[in-house]
Amino acid sequence: MDNLATPSTAPVKVTVSGAAGNIAYSLLWRIASGDVFGPERPVDLTLLEIPDHVAATEGVAMELADSAFPLLNNVVVTADQKVAFDGVNAAFLVGAKPRGKGESRADMLQANGRIFIEQGRAINEGAAEDVRVLVVGNPANTNAYIASKAAPDVPAERFNALMRLDHNRSLSMLSAKLGIPTTQFEGMVVWGNHSDTQFPDIEFLTVGGKSISEQIDRDWYVNEFIPRVAKRGSEIIEVRGHSSAASAASAAVDHMRDWVNGTNGRWVTVAQPSKGEYGVDEGLVFGFPTTGLSGRASIVPGLDLNEFQRERIDANIAALREEAAVADQLFS
Ligand code: NAD
Ligand code: LMR
Repeated sequence: MDNLATPSTAPVKVTVSGAAGNIAYSLLWRIASGDVFGPERPVDLTLLEIPDHVAATEGVAMELADSAFPLLNNVVVTADQKVAFDGVNAAFLVGAKPRGKGESRADMLQANGRIFIEQGRAINEGAAEDVRVLVVGNPANTNAYIASKAAPDVPAERFNALMRLDHNRSLSMLSAKLGIPTTQFEGMVVWGNHSDTQFPDIEFLTVGGKSISEQIDRDWYVNEFIPRVAKRGSEIIEVRGHSSAASAASAAVDHMRDWVNGTNGRWVTVAQPSKGEYGVDEGLVFGFPTTGLSGRASIVPGLDLNEFQRERIDANIAALREEAAVADQLFS
């Protein structure tokens, strides 16, 4: 039974890994205030950390208590993955090392990949039947691939990776350029990998039901917009000194909220395991245009792709294939 998508006042069990980290410090408050599971749904929160950070996580739990959220039913702090994922309905897998200046997200695979083998196994053993797992830790797509591979009894579609941040960045940049509120855009998608190869695609973009891609300056689109969105993570690291945190948490809230409630037909970008759609190898976790209704997410079917789109999508398939080959080695 899909408890998450069924209206209920029974508490939902939510686990956040990396609970003493930067993203969690914003994300936990949004979950506890009802922004993800709605104003009627109490939340049992489990905060998962490595043993060295359990004490700091107790401090985070104290601050959550001090916020007196009416929906926050219970908080558990643990370094035990079995405890953390037992009966979990929604897991935010944030805990992982962020990259520093000059590093690529794929560089993090050796440092972070094994975390997702362990956590995938614990999810496989203990999670609730309706579990939804959103991987945030980088490289997010391949870490989701790893977690899913480590959890063969959980349907692959239950593992997503966060590319909503790239989607939100795209909408914000388009809004600033065109003077149109972000809410007016429909048909935005960021295909592929949460990496520099990602393809923010405006070909299907509409405003008020009318296509606007032809009105957008092609040179700006190809030479400024696409690289700026793709490299926004590095830009934030350069300017802020740390990787994005509050905007990442906000995107994770958007993603999980839409996964639970649906989007009423509106396109969002969801990185999810391919079943072969648009020529993407089965199993690769790929950013696709996605709509959701009643807790089910589905990839928008039957889009005609031009040569430029095909090339960019193929570059992402190649990059993710390479990452998956490295990830497969981590299992041996
Ligand atoms: P952070 O260093 O502030 O916090 C990470 C926390 O994870 C630390 O407290 C660490 O102890 C914990 N951790 C490490 N291994 C763990 C494990 N096995 N189990 C539980 N906890 C563990 O980092 P942050 O800024 O919160 O970023 C976390 C991750 O999210 C990074 O990999 C970062 O690159 C990624 N990120 C992804 C996106 C995205 O859009 N997909 C956006 C921003 C950041
Ligand atoms: C981002 O896109 O901001 C995150 O993935 C952090 C990073 O390493 O860029």
